[in-house]
Amino acid sequence: MTAFAPAPLPTFHDDLDASLLEVWRLLREGPALRRNAFHMPALATVDADGHPQVRTVVLREADPATGTLRFHCDRRSAKAVEIAASGRAALHGYDTASKIQIRVSGSARLHTDDALAEAAWSGSRVMSRTCYGIAPAPGTALPAGDAYTQPEDGADLDLSRANFCAVVVTATHLDFLFLDRRGHRRAGWVRGAAGWTGTWLAP
Ligand SMILES: Cc1cc2nc3c(=O)[nH]c(=O)nc-3n(C[C@H](O)[C@H](O)[C@H](O)COP(=O)(O)O)c2cc1C
Repeated sequence: MTAFAPAPLPTFHDDLDASLLEVWRLLREGPALRRNAFHMPALATVDADGHPQVRTVVLREADPATGTLRFHCDRRSAKAVEIAASGRAALHGYDTASKIQIRVSGSARLHTDDALAEAAWSGSRVMSRTCYGIAPAPGTALPAGDAYTQPEDGADLDLSRANFCAVVVTATHLDFLFLDRRGHRRAGWVRGAAGWTGTWLAP
């Protein structure tokens, strides 16, 4: 019989600074890795009645240097309205391969007509752009499931552009959880003027 040696523990296991680097490495790689949990995190907001709301978004960019994460949405959507009202959002992902959960929360801002929005729109694929031309607006009650329209590929996308927005979340809190039966590790960081301050947390 062959005895399988357990996989070595990751280098960040007992290293708080390395854990923070791992958080940002996973977030930064998320947009490019389609099967990675951080490619399609859950986005949480709070609605006008104080109820939590959560849904999937595609992470477009995560920048460790600025501590920001970007996704795109329709500015008529509930999430956009909630972010405009509260200025806050949280994101969550759990990657089963690495057994890492990351939670991010912070301030959030809609970019509709500035240079950032323009660059985000220019970098979007045509297929993605057509989604923003949907009528009626996202979340509107329909008399039948197919009672909506969406521009064809190649159609005039001015209306889509008018509905498009990029959202930038500036992280102020990070929570990291790594599951391993030899010892789970959880850590949290808060961002202040001098950067991230972190501590190990009981899992
Ligand atoms: C795989 C997947 C990816 C999605 N990506 C986005 C996205 O990047 N932006 C977005 O606004 N909605 C995205 N959605 C749809 C949202 O999850 C949600 O259903 C929709 O935007 C309405 O949300 P709201 O009413 O809370 O605004 C995605 C859904 C799935 C299943």
